[in-house]
Amino acid sequence: MRRVPEPELMDEPEQARAYAEADFSEPNALFVALFQESFPDFGATGCLLDLGCGPADITLRLARAYPACRVHGVDGARRMLAFGHDRIAATELEGRVTLVHGVIPQVRLPRGRYEAVVSNSLLHHLHDAAVLWETIKRCAAPGAPVLVMDLARPQSAAQVDDLVRTYAGDAPPVLQRDFRWSLCAAFRPEEVLGQLAQAGLGGFDVRMVSDRHLAVLGRVPDPKGL
Ligand SMILES: C[S@@+](CC[C@H](N)C(=O)[O-])C[C@H]1O[C@@H](n2cnc3c(N)ncnc32)[C@H](O)[C@@H]1O
Repeated sequence: MRRVPEPELMDEPEQARAYAEADFSEPNALFVALFQESFPDFGATGCLLDLGCGPADITLRLARAYPACRVHGVDGARRMLAFGHDRIAATELEGRVTLVHGVIPQVRLPRGRYEAVVSNSLLHHLHDAAVLWETIKRCAAPGAPVLVMDLARPQSAAQVDDLVRTYAGDAPPVLQRDFRWSLCAAFRPEEVLGQLAQAGLGGFDVRMVSDRHLAVLGRVPDPKGL
């Protein structure tokens, strides 16, 4: 099935609300568990960057998982960030979590380099996937752990229908529409491997981690080769 890109930012009011109110606890818990299992030595100190953080559920889960770290989330959709700000205000984590409005790759971040960079469900929104890999190389400190998780594009339209029925059958129509668009806009694992090779991140691992998600795991190479 050919890739069909979708709009980058999720800034429609109804769309942002439906996404922020949906229950993504299963994939979001998987995301944090994957990071923890893959990088058991991470977490003493530092600052973690969440690219395309949306309503900040994963951003907050990471802040809870790493109590000695700060977490910065960035998103280009103000409406999504508004839900994130509300969510943060309802926790005790306000001092350690900062949300930044800006479009990747132009966004100006509060720090030059981060001790870890993560992203969930951003890659398939990008019209040019290289933007994500170049941003990661620019923002991650040498040796920093990276986890990117995203949907993987199914092989056929019938598989898209099955996944929408299984995982969004009871969801509001706008969420069903977005899930369908996202599946059609997502990349195949072999396409992601090609993007990584092109970006000089060929050492990263790409694997399927559920019936609909792929994960990219690796450490940003040290340009000095250390
Ligand atoms: C599917 S949501 C994922 C949100 C969050 N990471 C999560 O897992 O719940 C994708 C988010 O990426 C944002 N986004 C898409 N393209 C972007 C870009 N070029 N710069 C910044 N944010 C972007 C959208 O606005 C949206 O909030």
